[in-house]
Amino acid sequence: MSGRKLPKVLLVLFLLRYTRKTFVQLRGYGVIGSLRNLYRVIYRRLYALFLRLPFVQSKVQAQVEKSILELQEKLVPSGPGTIQYTTLPASGWTADQVRAELEKLGDMKHTSWEKGRVSGAVYHGGDELLTLQSEAFKRFGVANPIHPDVFPGVRKMEAEVVAMTLRLFNAPESGAGVTTSGGTESIIMAVLAARQKAYAERSVREPEIILPETAHTAFRKAAEYFKIKLHLVPCPAPTYKVQIATVSRLINSNTILLVGSAPNFPHGIVDDIPALSRLALKNKLPLHVDCCLGSFVIPFLARAGFPAPDFDFRVPGVTSISVDTHKYGFAPKGNSVVLYRSAALRRYQYYVCPDWSGGVYASPSMAGSRPGALIAGCWASLMKMGEDGYLSTCLQIVGAAKTIETRIRTSDALRHSITVIGKPMVSVVAFTANETQKDSFYKLDIYDVADAMSQRGWHLNALQDPPAIHVAVTVPIVAVVDELLKDLEEVVESVRGNPREKKGDAAALYGVAGALPDKSVVRELAEGFLDTLYKT
Ligand SMILES: *Cc1c(COP(=O)(O)O)cnc(C)c1O
Ligand SMILES: *[C@@H]1O[C@H](CO)[C@@H](O)[C@H](O)[C@H]1NC(C)=O
Repeated sequence: MSGRKLPKVLLVLFLLRYTRKTFVQLRGYGVIGSLRNLYRVIYRRLYALFLRLPFVQSKVQAQVEKSILELQEKLVPSGPGTIQYTTLPASGWTADQVRAELEKLGDMKHTSWEKGRVSGAVYHGGDELLTLQSEAFKRFGVANPIHPDVFPGVRKMEAEVVAMTLRLFNAPESGAGVTTSGGTESIIMAVLAARQKAYAERSVREPEIILPETAHTAFRKAAEYFKIKLHLVPCPAPTYKVQIATVSRLINSNTILLVGSAPNFPHGIVDDIPALSRLALKNKLPLHVDCCLGSFVIPFLARAGFPAPDFDFRVPGVTSISVDTHKYGFAPKGNSVVLYRSAALRRYQYYVCPDWSGGVYASPSMAGSRPGALIAGCWASLMKMGEDGYLSTCLQIVGAAKTIETRIRTSDALRHSITVIGKPMVSVVAFTANETQKDSFYKLDIYDVADAMSQRGWHLNALQDPPAIHVAVTVPIVAVVDELLKDLEEVVESVRGNPREKKGDAAALYGVAGALPDKSVVRELAEGFLDTLYKT
């Protein structure tokens, strides 16, 4: 090639690349959608510039610092009588001293999960299971599955946890999986496997994932960690399921993975997995189904007599599934499983270093050393619960969720003011202010409901886009559903047509900060929150 032609070739390549990007954008989002995206980007940039004006910035900064200080006062105990241990005790404590202090730490003022006041978070907490888990910890406290010859029992338990979960999700004979530290790691591993597969088999160098807006943030985290481009697909009313036509239009030669949730965290909605499966098969793409939340409840829906969607390996295009044994599997926190349709797919998440001076190194997932105690705790929980145990908790949990849904749809105190989002199928019921309500008597700010419920000791989850709150039913909540609904009715009656003067935390964060087009303030508040976690 002559030297003069080279710049021309480069120019053509450059133009081709941008033409291709524009084409993918236009096909995926349409002309209007693309213009809207462009408008949003420009608006956000301008807003960010506005926030950086000196007098605006100093005001915002002062407000952010004030909010973070308030947060600190709430989270970090201070005042007389509180001792902070910031250096090692010069000589070690007696076991009794440690026990006494642990007792105090456990009794610190908190939202009472024990009385079922917390949505999600604590999925079981029954004494018998807790005792059994701590016995498993004691027996396997030093165990580390990275040394299978030293701890053969842990290796066996891990393999069995994976096998039992594969079976529950109807994996074919070829199915394979690994245990991980939690849902986030399971998802990150599934994304990694998809990226490595596309890299190795299709030479994809600029990977992209097509993600329902409502899918768990762990996918966004994986995309940020691994430099994968994300396409977010709307999940609009009335079904709030991922819009299949948009997913289809966004598929291109860089796509490495399609995703569906069964169910998603915000609204407890199960995406149309069979439709995603058809797209995956047609385009020869992997499809991950996130059952982290559905975990050991969704496989029992049909047997419990509830309407049940198609979501597992029986749907032919599904290639991987994440399942949180530490949610409705009732295993101790720090447990999850990622399942694959084939062992070949699982290999793409392995890490192997053949030439390290420390020896040939191989590990299945992110961690090196792993807690054998947690695997033992998981195995013990699964065996103790058994099929009949999970069937019974499915009946209780989904039964309670249906009670909440029905009451919101039918109660005179609730139905005019709040509306259930979509058709929840598992354990989460989300609700928003009734959008069609014209009568100011019934109108309300949904975040006022969240804050007023907090004042009564309930911790529900605040959501955004659309503004909403949800209850994730757990075993401790089942016992207090009537109390919860009674308080919800009273709260709705007190805040409707009567916006709270002094806004609470949820209303402040989501109502005020959340309405800003540029999220740098929210980001700063969130980073301040994370800093606060490490204050003594
Ligand atoms: C909880 C959850 C996850 C994973 O969360 P971890 O906190 O990392 O266990 C993933 N997806 C959904 C839908 C979830 O609810
Ligand atoms: C909202 O309010 C209107 C008017 O009271 C009512 O007809 C409707 O059923 C309510 N619920 C929903 C889901 O729109």
